[in-house]
Amino acid sequence: MSALIIAIDGPAGSGKSTVARALAERLGWSFLDTGAMYRAITVEALRRQLNVRDDAALAALSASSVVRTLPRVTINGRDVEDEIRTEPVNEAVSIVAANPLVRASMVARQREFADAQPIGTVVEGRDITTVVFPSATIKVYLSASLEERVRRRGGDEEPASLARRDDADSTRAASPLRVAHDAIEIDTTSRDVNDVVEEIVECLHQKTSS
Ligand code: CDP
Repeated sequence: MSALIIAIDGPAGSGKSTVARALAERLGWSFLDTGAMYRAITVEALRRQLNVRDDAALAALSASSVVRTLPRVTINGRDVEDEIRTEPVNEAVSIVAANPLVRASMVARQREFADAQPIGTVVEGRDITTVVFPSATIKVYLSASLEERVRRRGGDEEPASLARRDDADSTRAASPLRVAHDAIEIDTTSRDVNDVVEEIVECLHQKTSS
């Protein structure tokens, strides 16, 4: 594992990607969007017309697929950056992500990625603080009101779809979304991105200087 990890979890639209990206830039660290990995597997499953509830088929697909998230999201070399945020993917991704075998395969790659980074990594998702990096340097749980989270999606996702994903992600058996006992909780509803980034940087400085 790379020396330093900032792990960020939270529900859809809580600001995870925006904050994590800005934080990585601010610190000169690497950034990993784990949701994009589950979304890429979902795009490919739909393209192959697999039943997304077929655990064995999805496990085989994820084990045999090469997923990259930077500079663009690709699966087996195919660019899916634009497809990962479409409605069919929003509807199916939480089913795919509830599959423990898919998760095991993605978690191993997330750890390998962080391990290969020169300084540190900002990683965001649903189970990063609780399962993937339980010993992260800093753990953050971001939240925001449902109204604000829907607004941030700018009409790209129906409120009902967002609420369904929230529910599926927090009630599933495998690595549900929850607040780690030692996470810093930040409500981003009326907060500026830079402000949130600076709060996390301050926590990091306090932690690494003590
Ligand atoms: O951007 P948004 O917060 O809407 O979602 P995302 O981070 O792109 O994640 C999409 C979906 O992937 C989530 O609704 C979860 O079902 C799943 N996911 C997960 O299970 N574990 C993660 N570490 C990241 C995402």
